[in-house]
Amino acid sequence: MRLVLLGPPGSGKGTQADALIKRLTAPKISTGDMLRAALKAGTKLGLEAKSYMDAGKLVPDSVVIGLVEERLGQPDTKNGFILDGFPRTTTQADALGVLLERLGKPLQKVVQLDVPSELIVERTIHRRTDKRTGQIYHLKYSAPPPNAELEHRADDREETVKQRLAQYEAMTAALLPYYQKLGLLVRVDGVGEPAEVTARVLGALGLSA
Ligand code: AP5
Repeated sequence: MRLVLLGPPGSGKGTQADALIKRLTAPKISTGDMLRAALKAGTKLGLEAKSYMDAGKLVPDSVVIGLVEERLGQPDTKNGFILDGFPRTTTQADALGVLLERLGKPLQKVVQLDVPSELIVERTIHRRTDKRTGQIYHLKYSAPPPNAELEHRADDREETVKQRLAQYEAMTAALLPYYQKLGLLVRVDGVGEPAEVTARVLGALGLSA
């Protein structure tokens, strides 16, 4: 399955991608994770991305398109992939379309996770990630085990989350009509227990849980 997960910040793209990896036998490709890893490693790319990420703004298209191009050339994407957080602009979506056509692997579905803005802030400011495993937790809804080594993302402060939401509305929401026109878009209610949402996503993909 060659899949894109779309949705506002904190809508559960990463959580759902992690839940789908086994079922779809496809890797998760998260541009946010890749950028954070570059930042941690102190690479030129990471340093370039940092100011945008800290401000809740989108990193320039050319940077993320290059990253995804390289990643999709790797052998583990042979049987499919789950793109999480890419594309986020119509320029990125155009570039992805051209790349996948060249690779002979067109997208099969684009799943939008619908979550109202009032839930987004609560989901993000209480998110914690285990820095050893990358596992995503929530202090209220998905409590971390006592031995987890928790990190709080720098861009998960309320003001930055609001800026990220504004960027989503301004740049990324345009992808809904874009993929609707291509007949690829399905919308899924992202509110409820994560496992319930996973069952809805699988149903929208025509797969059993
Ligand atoms: P990125 O890391 O992609 O952030 P995002 O899109 O804002 O999405 P999040 O990771 O915040 O949330 P999510 O939807 O994955 O939700 P999650 O599953 O974690 O990008 C970060 C930054 O990098 C961007 O701002 C930008 O600067 C840059 N960037 C990345 N990609 C880019 C691109 N393509 N172009 C340009 N710039 C780019 O869940 C959130 C929380 O909610 C967790 O605590 C989780 O436990 C909880 N939760 C999940 N599901 C549920 C549920 N059903 N019920 C209750 N709680 C839930």
